[in-house]
This record gives sequence, structure tokens and C-alpha cells, in this order.
Amino acid sequence: MASYLDRIGAGLVIRDPTPLEYEFMPNELKGRDTELSRLATLFSGIHRPGVSRQALLTGPVGSGKTVTARTFGRDLERHLAPTRPLKVARVNCRSHPTMPQVLQRIITSIDARHPERGFGSGEILQSLRRQLIGAGLHLLVILDEVDHLVIRDGADLIYQLLRIDEEHEATGSISLIMISVEPILERLEPSIISRLGRSNALSLSSYSVDELEAIIDQRAHLSLSPASFDQSLVRLVAEAAGESGDARVAIELLGDAAKKAEDDGRRELRSSDVQHLAVQRPTGFDPAVIDELSQHCRLILLSLSRRLKREPEISTGEVENLYHIVCEEFGILPCGHTTVWKHLNHLRKMGVIEGRHGTTGKGRGRTQHFSMPTLIPSDVVRRLERQYSK
Ligand SMILES: Nc1ncnc2c1ncn2[C@@H]1O[C@H](COP(=O)(O)OP(=O)(O)OP(=O)(O)O)[C@@H](O)[C@H]1O
Ligand SMILES: [Mg+2]
Repeated sequence: MASYLDRIGAGLVIRDPTPLEYEFMPNELKGRDTELSRLATLFSGIHRPGVSRQALLTGPVGSGKTVTARTFGRDLERHLAPTRPLKVARVNCRSHPTMPQVLQRIITSIDARHPERGFGSGEILQSLRRQLIGAGLHLLVILDEVDHLVIRDGADLIYQLLRIDEEHEATGSISLIMISVEPILERLEPSIISRLGRSNALSLSSYSVDELEAIIDQRAHLSLSPASFDQSLVRLVAEAAGESGDARVAIELLGDAAKKAEDDGRRELRSSDVQHLAVQRPTGFDPAVIDELSQHCRLILLSLSRRLKREPEISTGEVENLYHIVCEEFGILPCGHTTVWKHLNHLRKMGVIEGRHGTTGKGRGRTQHFSMPTLIPSDVVRRLERQYSK
């Protein structure tokens, strides 16, 4: 048998690829407790018959809109099971941007055999309503990426969904959560906004590096072998995706770095796996700016980068020690502590390195740790050494 195929299922690093996949839903969301609570507040009273609620969720790409709405739907379904059976119908309006397509998705979530053609939207909605009442079900419709539907076909369907119970005795058939990347309120007519309620809008912000770290930590523990990574690597991935604030970018980076390690036949991820992938991303930092730095700033960067070729991070004290050695190597008088600190800050502000506060490892002292998530330390070393050998 061909031995190269031994790699299939070898799982040197990846124990379970599922948590790295696009549609995977973790049991617990990281750092979205406030937003979930807010959704719960917007849906207060939903356990009572006749009640329906609406919410609009906006936020930048990868801020967790879809996963937050899905988690809320899943939890609400479980929570209401004993009192008011609820079903969730999620439609991605990017893949189904027209009104008939969206309607068809909604109705088939209740009635899988519903014929595809031959009915107007009003008829379909009333038949949906009758079926819901007949089955004693409440339906939560999640219109994801709803801006695609609004741009393509206007807001007619939203309007109809919001007033589905109008002129009927029994109310509360459908609740609605709409999701969009940009604020779409201004695209909607005043009649819809007033029905929806401006106060029902909830906006998610991009993730900070700390929040991305918690998300990556969760995925790494779910999918990778425990011996293949440590906390500093998790941090490095979060920092590399920090500029985007996008959880998807961070998870992809983790998955790609793990695959790279496996492709190389290794059992552990290295910081260089993350850095090589991060520089290929469009947001990658342009290494040419290094040439413009002042002499001591470059020497500090050189000492840092030499260590970061092997380790994911380095502490301030270690930078200073290595900087003194580098100055000796080039016969240059080193700057004092405060100036070194100033240069490190400058490099951090420029985005060449990232800093995080941590403990010294000795006693309870606090220090900064630096890493280089979006540049390849060995490239930086080569670039700087070339300048000094000229
Ligand atoms: N708080 C979180 N905890 C755990 N995983 C998360 C969290 N936020 C996002 N993710 C994961 O990150 C990825 C992107 O999240 P999601 O798809 O929800 O973002 P989005 O805001 O809907 O992005 P888009 O605008 O592209 O639709 C998903 O795989 C999701 O499971
Ligand atoms: Mg989404």
C-alpha cells in the first residue's frame, strides 16, 4: 500500500475536525452572555400563548451574529418545551435572496411536503399560520443576512410576517429575529420600523483579542490533541486575528496552522505555523516599514525576533538582556531602561509586535510579554542582519 496514505486519519494534531468547521455550534458561547441576556429580555413573556417578539441583530462580519441567534433559538426551544412548543426556522437570505425562496424555506420547515409552486405569498403565510395553530406550535423565524433579501425584493415579506396575525383572533404565531451586517433600519419603511420597534435592535461589536483568545481556547480544546498546543499559541492566534476582530478568521487560522503542522508530520503547532499563515492574509503587515526604524529600535527588534524564532513570546526583562548582547555584538552603546521601554511601545503601536500583561514567573511581579503574530520572526532577523552587514 502507498505509505503516503498513512496520513489519512493519523490525527497527529487534529483529534476532531468538526469544531473547526464553519457551521459548528459550540455548547457554550464565549463572551456573549450580555447579548444573550439582552435577547432574553427582548423576548420576555414569550412563554405565554398569544405573545410574539421581534429582534434585529447587527454587527460586523464574524462578530457572532449567526451563532448568537442560533444559540438563542436552540436554548429557547429547550426552555419552552414544557410550556409552549417552539420551532426554529432559519433562512440564510444570501443563499435564498428572493421572497418566494425565503417563504418556501419557512414553510418547508413546518411542512416538508409543501408544494413548491402555485401559491401566492399571502396564501402560503395563512396556510403556515393554520398549521402552526393546528399543531400548537410557535415559530421563531431567523432571517439571517436579511439585507440580501431587502436589497433584492424589498421588505414586503418582513412586513407580512410582522402582521401575520392581524385581523385574526388568535395571535402570537410567529416571532422574528433578523440579522444583518450593517444597520438596515434606514432601508426599511417607517411602518415596518414601528412594528419592529427601534428598541428591539441589538448591535454586536467586533471581538477584542481577549475575547478571541477565549473562543480559540475553546475550539483548540475541542478539536486538537492537548499536547499539540499551549496557551501562548492560543494567544498568538488571537493576536494574529485581533485586527479583524473576526472569530471566523481566528478559527480558520487555528485550523490551517494545525493542518500545516500535520502536513509537516509534526505532533505540535509552532508559532511559525501561525505567523506564516497570518502574513499571507490581506491585513498582513508590510515588513518594509522595519527599514525606517531608528537604530536602537531595530536592535531591540532584532533581539526580540531572534528569541521569537523559537518561542511564541518574550518578556520585557528578556528583551533587555538580549538587547545588551546584541549591542555588544555590534559594538554599540545600549540605551537605558526607559528608552528601551519607549521603543517597545513604539513597535507595539506600529503593529510590529503585540504586548500582553502577565506575571514574571518569579513571585508576583508583573511584566509585559511580546509576540509577533503577523510577521515571521526569521524574516525580520534576516532583514535586520542584512542591514547591519552592509
Ligand atoms: N462568542 C463565540 N463563542 C464561540 N464561537 C463563536 C463566538 N462568536 C463567533 N463564533 C464562531 O465564529 C464563527 C463566526 O461567527 P458567526 O458566523 O456567528 O459570525 P457572523 O457575525 O454571523 O458573521 P457574518 O457577518 O459573516 O455572517 C462561527 O464559526 C462561530 O461559531
Ligand atoms: Mg452570519
